Amino acid sequence: MTEQPLLKVDNLQLSYKVYGGSLSVLNGINLVVRPGEKVGLVGETGCGKTSAMKAILRILPAPPAQITGGHIHFKGQDVLQMSPKALQGVRGNGISMIFQDPTAALNPVFTIGQQLNAVIKYSASNRNKAAKRQIRQAAISALSEVSLADPERLLNAYPVQLSGGMRQRVCIAMALAAQPELLLADEPGTALDVTIQDQVLRLLRNLVEEKNTSVILITHTLGVVRQATDRVYVMYAGDMIESAPTSMLFANPRHPYTQGLMEAVPRLNGGGVAEGIPGRIPDYRNPPTGCRFHPRCPRVMSICRREKPSGYPVDDGHEVACFLFDGQHKP
Ligand SMILES: Nc1ncnc2c1ncn2[C@@H]1O[C@H](COP(=O)(O)OP(=O)(O)O)[C@@H](O)[C@H]1O
Ligand SMILES: [Mg+2]
Repeated sequence: MTEQPLLKVDNLQLSYKVYGGSLSVLNGINLVVRPGEKVGLVGETGCGKTSAMKAILRILPAPPAQITGGHIHFKGQDVLQMSPKALQGVRGNGISMIFQDPTAALNPVFTIGQQLNAVIKYSASNRNKAAKRQIRQAAISALSEVSLADPERLLNAYPVQLSGGMRQRVCIAMALAAQPELLLADEPGTALDVTIQDQVLRLLRNLVEEKNTSVILITHTLGVVRQATDRVYVMYAGDMIESAPTSMLFANPRHPYTQGLMEAVPRLNGGGVAEGIPGRIPDYRNPPTGCRFHPRCPRVMSICRREKPSGYPVDDGHEVACFLFDGQHKP
């Protein structure tokens, strides 16, 4: 494939400085998103998914966050080296993000209209100065696009006056109003009840399909990943441990962690995905040597305790970071 990727993350390393030490959270992750591609990112809570997305947008609080190595290229340009002005351009209509918690993402003291206008005005100012009336029109159509009734009235409402589902829709409208090329959707709807979450996800899927937006979708619902993505990355404790085209991954998950994730029966209340894997993710203050999954791995070998596996190709576009697949050990 010769086409330039839209996003390319190479060997990204990130730690958080905390009282009494440092948490090495991202342990050299790689990730690629091609133009128009929908990519899923899965892994238990605490694996570093949100940290990775915030690193891409350069919105991590520093301190405590510190990027200690690696590269992030968006359309060939190194995000980590960008000037504040270039970064604003990327955040204007390059990359936008939908956050896990829609309440925290909206500012309580401004109306929906004010917040939406700011996004639209900003992205429009990159091209031409949009007139006030055009901005209002764009805000109204952004709200109707996410199936919110009575958008004109909503423009004057404050976030607290809306239900959780409506706030999530407003966040989607704001994220898409700038017409980004890449959308980072971090567990959209997780805070909502299951039916509303379902509606929100369906809506989001239709919109990105229509606009051909590239997406990184983080979700605990594997059924959604299966339906809505082209490729999947699996993260464990700050490592990218498996990646493959979606159908391939679901038909034939290779990493013992991925296999555990797939066997896990999701709880009806939506909490936790890894009931199928005993134990829990390690303490980042003092992560295990070698493969970070080895203390929980049902197939652990002695090399896993000593060395960190790199990604080994097992099929076309399917890579697994596990010594079972290095060609020397028997899977
Ligand atoms: N601001 C922060 N300061 C210190 N530790 C953090 C901070 N943000 C996240 N972490 C830690 O980084 C790890 C990964 O968190 P996160 O990226 O939110 O994972 P995920 O999105 O996969 O649940 C967690 O152990 C979390 O406690
Ligand atoms: Mg998260």
